[in-house]
Amino acid sequence: MNKINVNLNDFSYTVSVGNNLLNKENLNKLIGKEVLIVIDSSLSTKYEELLTEILLPECIRLEVLKIKASEQNKNQKTLNKIYDKLIEANFSRETVLVGLGGGIICDMTGFAAATYQRGINFLLFPTTLLAQVDASVGGKTAINHPEGKNMIGAFHQPCEVIADIDFLASLQQKELSAGLSEVIKHSLIHDYQFFQYLENNIESILIQHKDITIESVARSIEIKSEIVSKDEKDIGIRRILNFGHTFGHALEVYGNFEKYSHGEAVSLGMLMALNLSNRELELPSEFIDRVKSVLRLSKNIIEPKEDIDALELFKLMANDKKKTGNSLNFILLDRLGSAKVVNGIDDQNIIKAIDSF
Ligand code: GLY
Repeated sequence: MNKINVNLNDFSYTVSVGNNLLNKENLNKLIGKEVLIVIDSSLSTKYEELLTEILLPECIRLEVLKIKASEQNKNQKTLNKIYDKLIEANFSRETVLVGLGGGIICDMTGFAAATYQRGINFLLFPTTLLAQVDASVGGKTAINHPEGKNMIGAFHQPCEVIADIDFLASLQQKELSAGLSEVIKHSLIHDYQFFQYLENNIESILIQHKDITIESVARSIEIKSEIVSKDEKDIGIRRILNFGHTFGHALEVYGNFEKYSHGEAVSLGMLMALNLSNRELELPSEFIDRVKSVLRLSKNIIEPKEDIDALELFKLMANDKKKTGNSLNFILLDRLGSAKVVNGIDDQNIIKAIDSF
């Protein structure tokens, strides 16, 4: 098992990565506590049964709340179900909330924990690759508003994260691919050697080779944790974690959240950001070809599903930035493994980077 520390002074915590981690030794943060477990209702009941069997004799109180996890349900109404359960059963400030599921469960459980009685502890068992390498680490918690994703939220760090790769066994290939696009992103922004490792090994993650999967998930989390430790509140260096996401979010909107999944949009968004890096920072085009090959091997898309109207996409990006109050800045690479935030890019260059598809 790998243990990664997210160093945030009083709010530091450990992320454990390995397999077969659902056992009493790894659950000591929950022993003797009041515990409410929030579970994605689409998960196999075996995890709930296993956790209940271990924890029931060890906790002051243990309750389970099942939630249908979807972007549509990631809202105030579902959040209220968590509050209702906590209040009706008189859970105190000493309670530990546990989230067992993908990114939506991690984000909602975290936000409930951030706000219940002004903040209680929470522990996460991320069950998708995307949640293991991204959503569960770094303390971004949120729900959606009809006007936008993750518009209501808080920074609130978990007290522990347990990333067990056994959860990944039931995932569909497209869910693994979506997670891999974030793993590739981490290598691109921070670690060229890791990128080379992925060039050679990414197919083994798709077939869930145990050691390679653990090593890749752990390295990916280490990179994220190193960045988050320097800038918890996302006002500086943490923004490099958004590599590919400015284009990607606009693509999701462009396709009405139907045509492109988040992973697909990030994959294409990274390629657009690389095209822009080529124009702005002279990133050699053979690097872009290498990234395309790794994305292809990870079974992510490397071409849009239709002709993209570049001006339309550009306008969506500008709108999004107006709504969120951010300026239109881009995360670009000057080489593989090194990212920087770049402002003031000429609109025409952005449009050309989209058009280079
Ligand atoms: N997913 C980007 C971040 O956590 O900052």
